[in-house]
Amino acid sequence: MSMNWGMANRLARIIKSDGRAVMLAVDHGYFLGPTSGLEEPRKTIEPLMPHADSIMLTRGVLRTSVDAKADKPIVLRVSGGTSILKELSNEDITVSIEDCIRLNVSAMALSIFVGSDFEKETLVSLAKLVDEGEKYGIPVLAVTAVGKDMARDVRYLGLSCRIAAELGAHIVKTYYCDNFEELIGSCPIPVIVAGGKKTPEMEALELAYNAVKGGAVGVDMGRNIFQSDSPVGMIKAVRAIVHENVSVKEAFKIYESEKNSKARKAS
Ligand code: 5RP
Repeated sequence: MSMNWGMANRLARIIKSDGRAVMLAVDHGYFLGPTSGLEEPRKTIEPLMPHADSIMLTRGVLRTSVDAKADKPIVLRVSGGTSILKELSNEDITVSIEDCIRLNVSAMALSIFVGSDFEKETLVSLAKLVDEGEKYGIPVLAVTAVGKDMARDVRYLGLSCRIAAELGAHIVKTYYCDNFEELIGSCPIPVIVAGGKKTPEMEALELAYNAVKGGAVGVDMGRNIFQSDSPVGMIKAVRAIVHENVSVKEAFKIYESEKNSKARKAS
């Protein structure tokens, strides 16, 4: 993809020189409120930050809970306007490009809801955000959010990812699914995989492993890290899968060893 220097530089801060990325997702509160594990964002974020390549969050949490001296690329959630109590697809752009520049963000993230009531509005918002981002060299991460009745299969997720790419997104975040390689093959921009609901640690590590093996640049993981009994252990294990190509078994040992060393220190 040909792009201006600023855009290329910001993307390179997110997707590292090995072509891989570990993004820590802590933006859930924008529609879920005080999500389990994120009640006090600073406490959750601080120990995890050193192990993430970038961090995805809202401007409210960025301003209140992240030190401005932190040298970590910010992927700012700029869509919202709805809550868990309402129709989730009814989102709009919630942050101006000027504030994104002031906050020195490395990318802007917006959800698209293909097949939902507000499909068109979210897709047009994506296109508008890309136009704004292109003016100032700020990449756009499209998030393929899933409506209540949407299947998380390759047909649906492949459709969403391809539309995101066609509308000009620079990265797309989606879910891992069967026949994931097919999705990767038909999506001309980098794909990063969301962790999804909390699952046992071994399963979350398998997901990360399968995602990168299937062609994703990495993971944008939240709940499977910050809701784990060892968040630092999990992010270290995920990082080893993404950047060091370790097996799931080896990664699980990294998680266990961190968990056990913390338990020893506490006793
Ligand atoms: C919410 C998001 C989250 O960032 C995304 O779902 C990743 O977090 P998790 O790994 O917990 O699913 O975009 O809409």
